Amino acid sequence: MLEQCFRLAQELLDAEQTSAPMPKVSPEKMMRELDLALPRQGRSEEEVFAQMREVLAFTPQTSNRRFFNQLFAGRVEMAGAAEVLSGLLNLSMYTFKVAGPHILIEHQLVRRMAALAGWPEGGGTFVPGGSMANLVGMILARNQAAPHFRDHGGEGQRLMVYMSAEGHYSVTKNAGMLGFGRHQVRHVRSDRQGRMDVQALEQAIGQDLAAGAIPCVVVATAGTTVRGAFDPLRAIAEVCERHQAWLHVDGALGGGLVLHPEWRAKLDGLELADSFTWDAHKAMGIPLICSAILVKRPELLAQNFRESADYLFQADSDHLNPGTKSIQCGRRNDAFKLWAAWQHLGDEGWAERIDRQVALAEYAANRLEQHPRIQLCEPPHSFTVCFEVAGKSSAEICDVLHQRGDAVIGYGRYEERYVLRLVTVNPLVSHDEIDRLIEQVDEVAAALPDHAPASSSAR
Ligand SMILES: Cc1ncc(COP(=O)(O)O)c(C=O)c1O
Repeated sequence: MLEQCFRLAQELLDAEQTSAPMPKVSPEKMMRELDLALPRQGRSEEEVFAQMREVLAFTPQTSNRRFFNQLFAGRVEMAGAAEVLSGLLNLSMYTFKVAGPHILIEHQLVRRMAALAGWPEGGGTFVPGGSMANLVGMILARNQAAPHFRDHGGEGQRLMVYMSAEGHYSVTKNAGMLGFGRHQVRHVRSDRQGRMDVQALEQAIGQDLAAGAIPCVVVATAGTTVRGAFDPLRAIAEVCERHQAWLHVDGALGGGLVLHPEWRAKLDGLELADSFTWDAHKAMGIPLICSAILVKRPELLAQNFRESADYLFQADSDHLNPGTKSIQCGRRNDAFKLWAAWQHLGDEGWAERIDRQVALAEYAANRLEQHPRIQLCEPPHSFTVCFEVAGKSSAEICDVLHQRGDAVIGYGRYEERYVLRLVTVNPLVSHDEIDRLIEQVDEVAAALPDHAPASSSAR
């Protein structure tokens, strides 16, 4: 059966090279054309593979070189191969007894990643996504500010959360789930470069202290979702230190830059933080999901998450049983694929990959800057390039490109309007492909009617 599976996988890889990323198809059309209903009687292997082939034909190709829509695109093939093996091995990463060397692999990774963050004694654990990594960081922060919280719940204090106006929505969602309350999140103003304004942070904290609230956690972003901007970590850390607030750094997008000798400077001051989200499934090209929460003081994880489960944690120490420091019980093996990719690329390969990604962003920015009809919003901070066509709707441009099967690209809020966002995380994209995308944007925009001045309420 696996042979058929690999044949199908090869077809997919070939299609990624030759076809469009997948034109927009409505769910109604898919329901009509695909046989998705669950049968009463089982079908033969051949029949199921034939059905899967049809599903793949309608599936967006995120590794196609004309897919620019998300903060992930393309794949490190070695990681894809290890992911296939992980699926077959079907381990759960809670105990050494059932995951063996994969626990040791995870140790290697989190120790190394924490050391790269600037914490030689640090550690962490893999979690299902950057939002969850932010959740864990915020739980640790909450329990530090309110040590009774884990056992007894809140005791009426107002614990405040701070992030920049450009921070990720998971922070607000997490605040709602953790008993902070969504309205206790201060969306601190950002500056013209999209970075948190440290004076505005200081001011917000001052106001909250005066009102009797506790500044609990500042979530700084290393690579904001739309603009790719980096908050000034060192200055924010000083503010946190002064107010004894926890500093969590959301590096879901830009965290991997610590692997580059020069680009690491974007995260200057990271070593002063308490916890750090790092998604290897975004810019590093590891298949989803591959996220780590890293902490300066690794003992805090078990202190805050351990429960007695004598049916499970029977042999070995907590150290070898990472289930004692995670939110989940059963846990996917997300470490193996990153480890395999790292073995193949080495530190140097990661740095070269970053060079290629930022060079692509710079190439696109230069072309856009010279373009007579398209406006570049700002020089790229890392791997996202924001641009617009004056008087035209960015949303409609994206939609038409998608419908025509030309490219998949998204838009996001930039200051008070919506602009196109080109993400250059797939290092296999060529200059020709970027040129072609820009030409297609121009062509599509020219055919669209004029749009009222774009604002955040009118896309
Ligand atoms: C800055 C930032 N943080 C966190 C996340 C959430 O990551 P995930 O999708 O892995 O939950 C994202 C996702 O785009 C992000 O851009």
